[in-house]
Amino acid sequence: MTLKYLLVLVALTGAHCKTAYKICVPVQHLKACQAMLEVETKSKAALECLAEPVVCARGASRWMLTRRLLAADKGCRARVEIKDGRIAGQRPAKLYEIPLQAAGVSQYFLRVECLYQVQQRQADLVPVDPEDMYVATNIPNQDFVLFQEYRTEDEPDAEFRYQAVIVVHKDLPVNNLDQLKGLKSCHTGVNRNVGYKIPLTMLMKRNVFPKMNDPHYSPKENELRAFSTFFKQSCIVGNWSPDQRTNSAWKAQYSQLCALCEHPDKCNYPDNFSGYDGALRCLAHNGGEVAFTKVIYVRKFFGLPVGTIPASQSSENPDEFAYLCADGSKVPVREKACSWAARPWQGLLGHNDVTAKLTPLREKIKQLAVAGWATQPPPDWFTNVLGLTDKIHHVADNVPIAPATYLKKANYTEVIERGHGVPEPIVRLCVTSNVALAKCQTMATFAYSRDIRPKLDCVQEASETDCLKNVQDNGSDLAAVDEMKVAQAAKKYHLHPVFHEVYGPEKKPRYAVAVVKKSSTFTKPEDLRGKRSCHDAFGSFSGLKAPLFYLINKGLITPDDCVKKIGTFFSGGACLPEVDKLENNPKGDDVSILKKQCPADNKPLTCLKEDHGDVAFVSSADLQNLDESQYELLCLNRDRGGRDSFANFATCNIAMIPSRSWLAAKDSLSDVSIAHTPLSLAELLDKKTDLFNIYGEYLKNNNVIFNNAATGLATTEKLDFDKFKAIHDVISNCGIA
Ligand SMILES: *[C@@H]1O[C@H](CO)[C@@H](O)[C@H](O)[C@H]1NC(C)=O
Ligand SMILES: *[C@@H]1O[C@H](CO)[C@@H](O)[C@H](O)[C@H]1NC(C)=O
Ligand SMILES: *[C@@H]1O[C@H](CO)[C@@H](O)[C@H](O)[C@H]1NC(C)=O
Repeated sequence: MTLKYLLVLVALTGAHCKTAYKICVPVQHLKACQAMLEVETKSKAALECLAEPVVCARGASRWMLTRRLLAADKGCRARVEIKDGRIAGQRPAKLYEIPLQAAGVSQYFLRVECLYQVQQRQADLVPVDPEDMYVATNIPNQDFVLFQEYRTEDEPDAEFRYQAVIVVHKDLPVNNLDQLKGLKSCHTGVNRNVGYKIPLTMLMKRNVFPKMNDPHYSPKENELRAFSTFFKQSCIVGNWSPDQRTNSAWKAQYSQLCALCEHPDKCNYPDNFSGYDGALRCLAHNGGEVAFTKVIYVRKFFGLPVGTIPASQSSENPDEFAYLCADGSKVPVREKACSWAARPWQGLLGHNDVTAKLTPLREKIKQLAVAGWATQPPPDWFTNVLGLTDKIHHVADNVPIAPATYLKKANYTEVIERGHGVPEPIVRLCVTSNVALAKCQTMATFAYSRDIRPKLDCVQEASETDCLKNVQDNGSDLAAVDEMKVAQAAKKYHLHPVFHEVYGPEKKPRYAVAVVKKSSTFTKPEDLRGKRSCHDAFGSFSGLKAPLFYLINKGLITPDDCVKKIGTFFSGGACLPEVDKLENNPKGDDVSILKKQCPADNKPLTCLKEDHGDVAFVSSADLQNLDESQYELLCLNRDRGGRDSFANFATCNIAMIPSRSWLAAKDSLSDVSIAHTPLSLAELLDKKTDLFNIYGEYLKNNNVIFNNAATGLATTEKLDFDKFKAIHDVISNCGIA
């Protein structure tokens, strides 16, 4: 080798040493990241911000995304599909790029994208949660290492974020976990990590624990049954089901799971015997024999020092209690705890090459964490780029470790993968477009990662009708239809609605309403005879079907040739838009009286405002476009009629409008089991709106799976459905349905 070449080599290596470390950030936090680079630190190590601008979607025939999305088709790097938090199948043959912002993907998926960037050496590091580490372990050809941990100021030296422990009275005659059977147990609350998920995950491995795979029950009910069979009495507060009726039914049926609570009848928060310390109070003062909680709260409860927190006064006697270890031995609570699982710290994940030059990087991160915390409130980048928080900002160096080993050390992998025993139940949602399929799969992965079971699966069919048939044939469990089709589809395919969309900040269904001027005098339906009416378009529930059903039902018109009868009743003239279209008037009848009052734009609110009509039949969703000081509602649903303000549309209306509803067949999974996943997802996203908006636009498409306007999901009541069926029958006798 000549000297010249050697020099070049040295120069190259030198340049390599100075290479900046690239931290991966979601695009929307790129600015915050650049602000972070401006911060002066002692460490001269250079950081760079790598924003992840694209996601790749699988695109082969059936899976292909809409043409609109292919604009950015520049050939994506190879990607794989993530399903149920795992990598599914082989690398797909063909891939497309989608602008990330357009895709409206959640933070969760942004994290996943960054993991790929690091794996492929486009970036060097990314902050991660244990759940992200789990996803990371499933990426092929990865060589990730976790090289720094984010810990709390309270416990800067603790091995784990928290440890799940079993606490018992010291003399409890138990020397293995099987003997927990028949005891009285205290828990933090339903669905929580140390008080619920971890005990279930660990106990279900033991033969004495009841099986949780009975297909006659939903996964959640199987869990409740198992606990209530295994323990004599317990306190497990919280909403057991997102559906209030199911919740109440279960609370009545499995009431011994509430027996040890402060308020067994409520069995919900706040309860003195729930939560981390409440479980210990339940053990010490309410007859509990075993409590599931975490170490830091045990030490605080008994006044023992923990981490940097000194000993404190406590009226509780630590000498009466012990930890029960996984091997059945006991350890006094004054001593180091034995646990059965732990939640590891969050931290920084890099590819294996970073371990070669770790010290400057680690110093840099630590100095940034200190600098960020010194500014109060901490700058944007503290949270959004580094992933630190008010509570968790002590950065600690650890021996670089592979994420799989890291999770295993805490027994946390099995907690994430928690199942119910084979066969694992699945709920299959039928969708009719490629983009809906993509969204459904995103929802499925997201729900699985958040411990929502049964697992969601997605089935694609060509049309709504095909989906309904598919549900009837048990090819899927749920299919959606709009408005009155719910009654028609139910009849034709022997299905019934399980849940539906709700709207507005109050999360209510919409109603067909009759709006009148405040200055008018009618209060009863008869008063409307001979007057002028304005309607939502032909075929709509609010404009045609609800008023028609009402008039027929009240005997105000006869059920023959009924569209024309509207013109007879409102003999002053009406505006029923589209009534004269060929498909709505195939015989070419004279319907001019039903168009007589139409304003230039054909809209019912204009018709009312411009005084072409005395009453408008519209949806409660339209009320926001009317001046409340001038108009009010006519309560046709009340026997005595009357008027009310817009705000009371739910009690003063003609009828509830069937929302977009999801139908299921009779004999497959129970409705409770089928509805649990979508309702739980809706409930979770209600609280955590920044994660993933299932109702918003998806990949620039509107109304994918859910209507953009929806704000929640609710269980469909039989009473409401029976009313829709009655309306359907009356209306279809008129030849419209
Ligand atoms: C709840 O527990 C606290 C602490 O043990 C106690 O002071 C309080 O009286 C309890 N409240 C009720 C309603 O029992
Ligand atoms: C993991 O499980 C084993 C055996 O059940 C137990 O001994 C160990 O303490 C557990 N690890 C943690 C961190 O809790
Ligand atoms: C419906 O299909 C599922 C999944 O293939 C199957 O497990 C279930 O037994 C079927 N149900 C009925 C009633 O046939």
